[in-house]
Amino acid sequence: MRIGIGNDHSGVEMKREIVKFLQEQGHEVVNYGTDESTRCDYPVYGEKVGRAVTAGDVDRGILICGTGLGISLAANKVRGVRAVVCSEPCTARLSRQHNDANVLAFGARIIGIEMAKMIVETWLSTEFEGGRHQRRVDMVMEMENK
Ligand code: RB5
Repeated sequence: MRIGIGNDHSGVEMKREIVKFLQEQGHEVVNYGTDESTRCDYPVYGEKVGRAVTAGDVDRGILICGTGLGISLAANKVRGVRAVVCSEPCTARLSRQHNDANVLAFGARIIGIEMAKMIVETWLSTEFEGGRHQRRVDMVMEMENK
């Protein structure tokens, strides 16, 4: 898969490790995040990755900030994005099966690197179930037209 990754200053170290992990798993990674520890603004990176996903430049997006919260809020303002914050693999799996999430966010100040890897692996390998979940996802996306 081609994965777009974005992060603010608090996610630089974790981003590096996740990029390595993704590449080892055979994914192609496009880095939209900062590589500097200088304080910066998470909305910039949430938007960049969100737009890359909806433009089809990448298949999925992964976002890292201190909590995963701000950067996911920013990504969700981009039309077509369904970004979720996950701190463990169960919600990561369900966010794919039920919500067809196309962007995953987590917090470098909240979870450790091994948990982050488990979340990423689960999220990337789980398919959307469709069926009754499709109608609900459609309802959510339809709100963008109101
Ligand atoms: C930056 O200090 C921090 O606020 C940011 O990384 C994120 O946690 C916001 O939601």
